[in-house]
Amino acid sequence: MTLFDDLQRLLGVDQVQDSAQAEAFLRDRHGRFVGRVAAAVHPRDTAEVAAVVRLCGRHAAPIVVQGGNTGLMGAATPDASGRAVLLLLDRLNRVRQIDTDNDTLTVEAGCILQQVQEAARAAGRLFPLSLGAEGSCTLGGNLGTNAGGVAVLRYGNARELTLGLEVVTADGQVWDGLRGLRKDNTGYDLRDLFIGSEGTLGIITAATLKLFPLPAGQCTAFLAFASLARAVAFLSHARRGFGAGLTAFELLSVDCLRLLREQFPASPLPFPDLEQPWYALLELSDHQDEAHARALFEQVLGDALENDLLVDARIAASLAQGEALWRLRETMSDAQKRAGQNMKHDISVPVSRIVEFVESTDALLQRHFPGVRNYTFGHLGDGNLHYNVAHAPGRSVAEHMADYAALSRLVHDSAHAHGGSISAEHGIGQRKRDLLARYKSPVELELMRRIKQALDPRGLLNPGKVLPEASA
Ligand code: MLT
Ligand code: ZN
Repeated sequence: MTLFDDLQRLLGVDQVQDSAQAEAFLRDRHGRFVGRVAAAVHPRDTAEVAAVVRLCGRHAAPIVVQGGNTGLMGAATPDASGRAVLLLLDRLNRVRQIDTDNDTLTVEAGCILQQVQEAARAAGRLFPLSLGAEGSCTLGGNLGTNAGGVAVLRYGNARELTLGLEVVTADGQVWDGLRGLRKDNTGYDLRDLFIGSEGTLGIITAATLKLFPLPAGQCTAFLAFASLARAVAFLSHARRGFGAGLTAFELLSVDCLRLLREQFPASPLPFPDLEQPWYALLELSDHQDEAHARALFEQVLGDALENDLLVDARIAASLAQGEALWRLRETMSDAQKRAGQNMKHDISVPVSRIVEFVESTDALLQRHFPGVRNYTFGHLGDGNLHYNVAHAPGRSVAEHMADYAALSRLVHDSAHAHGGSISAEHGIGQRKRDLLARYKSPVELELMRRIKQALDPRGLLNPGKVLPEASA
């Protein structure tokens, strides 16, 4: 019996596809990575996932898990060998339990993030993980990559939002770690090991997540700053003024806003004259009421204007206006995709070193790659910048690609030298895999390899991802 026949017998003919039938799943969203598979399968539940893993083990077939296929690092795209089985968890999309006394929600990995947010809201609670792709990314992908997004400043990354996991191990056992406990000091933290492991250590099939109270009032504003240093100083001011109410602080350079205007001319900008170099979207969530939120918001912004931290502010007067401001921020990535030739760098540095990082890296780039344009935006409150770069117009794709590796090395070296990370929230996948050898210490890499060896000794889970080859 071939693997394909065995899988059909296990799951039913309709739930197993060959490479041609599964074509849509075999390339990543940006078309950078394309693979082939022995089969793509849609198991119905955790027991079937475990059975598929055991079957793949018998055939020595690698397994790649894919959620909404919205990742940017190629972690969910199989290689071109055609040996792997692609595990699609779209049928594991049940909400298993909502416990409002414990403020937890247990859901399966194939649930779309928006579906999880809506299930929480229907129970009168907030599940705060939020990112541009939330209408199509899945919770399993969010956990596999330890997704960040726009509310990390207040609520943390996917890892901080997770209390328990259910995981299928590399040898096809099921670990039921779906504990809704906020305190559980009983040995090694397996949960935090699986989260962010990008399908290389085990297959997350369900999770117990933390819920929070829904805010009673929310205020959103777009702010204009005379310099990046002022934006950073304003962030400290806002933290003091709003405390835990500060839920988002999203930075955009003036060039990002120009690009948004160019690519989406129908979306009006809050500051059409674009006279300042830096802008930010600010959000306050308040647990008293709308009027209290508004009064506090105006007071903190008023103080900042008086103290010259801020040049100007446009406060959204309605929910619709607030949503329009968020849409602007969230279409930034699409604007760059439309403009093409974009060199993305998802870096983080300590907030206290952001200004120094941006100024010195901008200057280095102009010295070595004259004329390149920076599109710097991102989650300033987390020290996470999307430090993206495009060539001056007129460069050919070949010239662009020729510069990409050297330019990225310069940006990553600079982030590293500023005490930062070369991947703040997008993960490693296959795209940044070999960079780890440059930026992680030999001790850290060795520990990572030993963990992989212990949990997946045959190397069948998402091979070629995250860990660089031993000689790289
Ligand atoms: C964002 O924050 O908009 C994304 O993480 C950036 C991206 O998709 O490149
Ligand atoms: Zn981001």
